Amino acid sequence: MISMKRTLLAALVFGALAVPALAQNKVPAPSTEAFEPKNPGWSFNGPFGMYDRGALQRGFQVYKEVCSACHSLSRIAFRNLADKGGPEFTVKEVAALAGAYKVPAEPNEQGKTTDDMGQPLTRPAVASDYFPPPFANEKAARAAMNGAYPPDLSLIVKSREEHEDYVYSILTGFGQKPPANEKMARGMNYNPYFPRHQIAMPPPLSEGAVMYSDGTKATIDQQARDVVTFLTWAGEPKMEERKQMGFKVMLFLIGFATLLFFTYRKVWHAEH
Ligand code: HEC
Repeated sequence: MISMKRTLLAALVFGALAVPALAQNKVPAPSTEAFEPKNPGWSFNGPFGMYDRGALQRGFQVYKEVCSACHSLSRIAFRNLADKGGPEFTVKEVAALAGAYKVPAEPNEQGKTTDDMGQPLTRPAVASDYFPPPFANEKAARAAMNGAYPPDLSLIVKSREEHEDYVYSILTGFGQKPPANEKMARGMNYNPYFPRHQIAMPPPLSEGAVMYSDGTKATIDQQARDVVTFLTWAGEPKMEERKQMGFKVMLFLIGFATLLFFTYRKVWHAEH
C-alpha cells in the first residue's frame, strides 16, 4: 500500500515537473516565419478611437516626400485631403498641393496627347485629380525595381493581416543583422517582419528624412506612426463617420429600451 502511494506521488511529481518542460520544448517555428508585428498603440483603435489630425497631416507629408517615389496611392484624389475625418487640409492648401503635380493632359485642339517630340503632354493637377503614380504601369515599376513590385498603398493597411501593426513593423524593422543561417539574396534587405525575412524595398525611412512644420521631431518611429495613420485613413476614409453613427445608434437604442421598460411597467401596473 505504502509503495503504491509512493509510486503515485513519484508519478505526480514527475508529471508536475515534466509537463512544463515539455511545453517549453516544443518544436521551434521555421526560422523565416515573419515575426509577430509590434503594436505601438494607435489613436484610432477601439470603438471611440479617432484619427490624430496632426499625424494624418504629417503622414501625408511622409507619403508625399518618401513613399510616393515608388508607391502609387491610386484611390485618393487631392480633394480627399480636405474631407472631414481625413487630414482636413483647407481647400486652398489642397489646390496648392495639387498644382505642384503634373498629370497627363486631355487631348489638345489637334486631338493630340503628345507634343512634336512624342512626349506626353501634361497639365498641373487640380483638386479632383487622383495622385499620379510614380510608374506608368507594373512592368515599368518592376523594371526600375530590380524585378520587385512596390504595391499601391491605398489599401495596404486593410489588405494585410495585422493591418497597421504590420505596416508599422515593416517600416521600423530594418537595420538588424540577419542570423548566420539566413542567406540574403542579392539586392534584398533583411526585415524579419516580412514573409521570408527578405524584402526588395530598401529601408525607406531615416532620422530626420522629412522636416515637420509643426515642430514634431522626425524620428524613424514618428515617421512610421504618422505614415501608417495616414495610410489607415486612406484605406478607411469614413471610419470616423461610421463610429459616430454607431455611437448615435447606441444612444438611440438605450433611449428606446428605457422608454419600453417604463411603458411596460406602466401598462402592467395598471393591469393589477
Ligand atoms: C525605393 C523605392 C521604395 C520606397 C521609397 C518605398 N518603398 Fe515600399 N516597397 C518597395 C518595393 C520594391 C516593395 C516590394 C518588396 C518585395 O516584394 O520584396 C515595397 C514593399 C512595401 C511594403 C510591403 C508590402 C507587402 O506586400 O506586404 C510596404 C508596407 C511598403 N513598401 C510601404 C512603404 C512606405 C509606407 C513607404 C514610405 C515610407 C515606402 N514603402 C517607400 C519600394 C519602395
